[in-house]
Amino acid sequence: MLRYSYVILFLCIYAVVAGKHDVYKGYSVHGIKLTNATHKEFIHSLELELDLDVWQHGTPKLRDAMVMVSRENTVSLMEKLDTMGLDHYVHLRDVAQAFEEHDLEISAWKRGRSNVLPFEDYPRYAEVDAYLEKVAQEHPDIVTLVNAGPSFEGRAIKYVKISTSNFADTSKPIYFLTATVHAREWVVTPAALYMIQRLVDRRPEDQDLLDSMDWIILPMINPDGYEYSHTTMRLWRRTRSFRPEISSSCYGADGNRNYDAAFASVGVSSNPCSDIYPGPSAFSEVETSYVRDIMQANLQRIQIFMDIHSYGNYITYGFGDARLSPNVAQQHHVAAIMGAAIDPYKLPQAPYYVVGNSNLLMYETSGCAQDYAQTIGIPLSYTLELPEYGFDFRVPPSYIGQINSETWHGVAASARAAVLYYRARN
Ligand SMILES: *[C@@H]1O[C@H](CO)[C@@H](O)[C@H](O)[C@H]1NC(C)=O
Repeated sequence: MLRYSYVILFLCIYAVVAGKHDVYKGYSVHGIKLTNATHKEFIHSLELELDLDVWQHGTPKLRDAMVMVSRENTVSLMEKLDTMGLDHYVHLRDVAQAFEEHDLEISAWKRGRSNVLPFEDYPRYAEVDAYLEKVAQEHPDIVTLVNAGPSFEGRAIKYVKISTSNFADTSKPIYFLTATVHAREWVVTPAALYMIQRLVDRRPEDQDLLDSMDWIILPMINPDGYEYSHTTMRLWRRTRSFRPEISSSCYGADGNRNYDAAFASVGVSSNPCSDIYPGPSAFSEVETSYVRDIMQANLQRIQIFMDIHSYGNYITYGFGDARLSPNVAQQHHVAAIMGAAIDPYKLPQAPYYVVGNSNLLMYETSGCAQDYAQTIGIPLSYTLELPEYGFDFRVPPSYIGQINSETWHGVAASARAAVLYYRARN
């Protein structure tokens, strides 16, 4: 009985002393200056060897790589970088503390204002869901809310169809926008919700975007991972599927390596505990299968697909193995229009957008949504990496409004360009 009391006492003290992000104690993040293309392969080899968490892959002479490393592997990382002759610096000395501070910043932001809208904040799944229901209820003339089905853990994955003809006018192209496949990239969720809000606002200057197109917006592909990143592990990236026959302790797969496009060929890890584990088979994750089903059901009309991620100010297109598609000039043109439309509105400290093939700019990948859409014949297919202003995954909530409005300029410009190419084709 006495021993039991001690346990209780210990747990109480622990609950007070322990920080929410203690799992990241001893972890640090390092910026690495890449100077030539071989360094991208080098970072990937270190990723597997030293179990690095790659926050940003980097582009030689343009964007630094950012990697998180455990205390045990820090010395090896430093030695290997020095041997390779790569300049590096400490970006975050203490990852746990950095996220404690970000949490405080978020709660102060919430406390300081009333009626924070879900696209001005980091909303939880339930708030996103309530927002989608409300938008559909308030705009029944143009919004249809669809439940694609349950996530692995049973959360409804919902998307909105926005159309002036309730999708009856099949002569129009469709813009398909998705977000939050990678749980920890929190800032993409409000950005996707803001795109919905702008369309239902029906501002006169945006009217052509509804007249000339239909829209499908799925703001949260991976609600299980997203909620887990809020409650338990801030840097969770994957889904939360559980397959004891594969691993009794590691959950989920990288949703953006799980599509049927050169599945599990390059840029992945076969270790089910890795953040780039693609899953046991293409579309093993029910969440990505819903995205596939939406694409297949609307294949004739989807002209442009945009998957929003964070971070780095990139707009990339396929393929992940560096092959280019036959219409690469059009792909590049629309991406360039989009980036150029955002740049005039960017904050001075943000880099200009860079557009190009995802492999050439970053690193090789397989099984990502961008490539799958391209493979099945969607003419324009992109991954959008939003800005972070040096805050990595800890973008202060006060910057969300800026990201939303500049990104809207880009989405609107890409939509108009996509319509022109659609008309030229049809
Ligand atoms: C890239 O940089 C490394 C040093 O880090 C050097 O050994 C190698 O020759 C360079 N490769 C090219 C293609 O310039």
